[in-house]
Amino acid sequence: MSNDLTLSVIKADVGSHVGHTSVHPRLIACAQSHLAESDLLDDFHVTAVGDDMELIMTHKHGVDNEEVHELAWDAFFAATEIAKDLKLYGAGQDLLADAFSGNVKGLGPGIAEMQIVERPSEPVIIFMADKTEPGAWNLPLFKIFADPFNTAGLVLDPSMHDGFIFEVYDLIEGKKIDFSVPEEMYDLLAFIGAPSRFVIRSIYRKEGDGSRGDIAASASTQRLNITAGEYVGKDDPVCIVRCQSGLPAVGEVLEPFANPHLVSGWMRGSHNGPIMPTSLESAVPTRFDGPPRVCSLGFQLRNGELLGPKDMFDDVAFDEARKKANKIANYMREMGPFEPHRLPLDEMEYTTLPQVMERLQDRFKPIDD
Ligand code: 13P
Ligand code: 13P
Ligand code: MG
Ligand code: MG
Repeated sequence: MSNDLTLSVIKADVGSHVGHTSVHPRLIACAQSHLAESDLLDDFHVTAVGDDMELIMTHKHGVDNEEVHELAWDAFFAATEIAKDLKLYGAGQDLLADAFSGNVKGLGPGIAEMQIVERPSEPVIIFMADKTEPGAWNLPLFKIFADPFNTAGLVLDPSMHDGFIFEVYDLIEGKKIDFSVPEEMYDLLAFIGAPSRFVIRSIYRKEGDGSRGDIAASASTQRLNITAGEYVGKDDPVCIVRCQSGLPAVGEVLEPFANPHLVSGWMRGSHNGPIMPTSLESAVPTRFDGPPRVCSLGFQLRNGELLGPKDMFDDVAFDEARKKANKIANYMREMGPFEPHRLPLDEMEYTTLPQVMERLQDRFKPIDD
């Protein structure tokens, strides 16, 4: 359809200053000029959350488009060259390949995309996190689209009563499944309550016959360490949510972040901690390389143009959430290297801990009592 619009959010950490805390302005300027030179895009916005650079793009070429992905890859690659020159930390960290090969999926960057027909008014929120994994979106996405205690529209708006369809990926087995909510809510929770393995990929409005309707949300699901087979950094996922007019309202979409839930990530990608909603300016994770951050930018789309951004967590109403996150961070930090602050052993597989344990393997003797 000629009026189809694609919203693509592609992100990568290609080097940080200082440590893993922020993106150098020269890297952002480089990516901006790279995207500006292309005639592929309708509009774009480049930003950063912590040490992750985020390319927010609109175009007419559909999801998984090779040229758009290559453009993003080239922008990250060019920024990496600057990061190397500036000797920034982890220059090229998330670029797992030397060259582009058809699709950025599997090459390191995180991707969330959706193809839509722009509505008469099209408010969208782009969530971007640092120091955590894609499963961090499970709990808030469930609340937004399935919990009437969060989303008043599920009760008050008759057009939302049919519910939504959640597409869930099993990142270990490489399989996917659809759940129809509210009927299959308990089944859905059985899986997405384990966010390191089962992640919500996308959410659709449900048609009267129970089939998938318009797309409402799309999240990145790339797990960097699983792709690389070793610890590289955390995935630091992104997520796109459409709002209003039969979908959750902007305030309902932001509401779950008023209570900072625990996510995996933080220092060395190896610790559980609270996810703190902040403005972009405050997304500088310095304490123990964290605590994990979530930022949200709001845009109104206007024939493909990105009107905005509006920094949605730059609101005193989220001050209490930030305070609570700091309190939880204090409590969790007191546990130092002990679980459940430190991640469980199977989650530590892709860190340097197994090397430490391997050194002592021969010292273990059979228990004979
Ligand atoms: P290094 O061993 O390179 O310091 O990596 C650890 C790290 O980056 C955690 O922040
Ligand atoms: P990033 O994934 O944000 O690069 O963080 C890596 C890390 O090890 C922080 O301690
Ligand atoms: Mg980093
Ligand atoms: Mg990061």
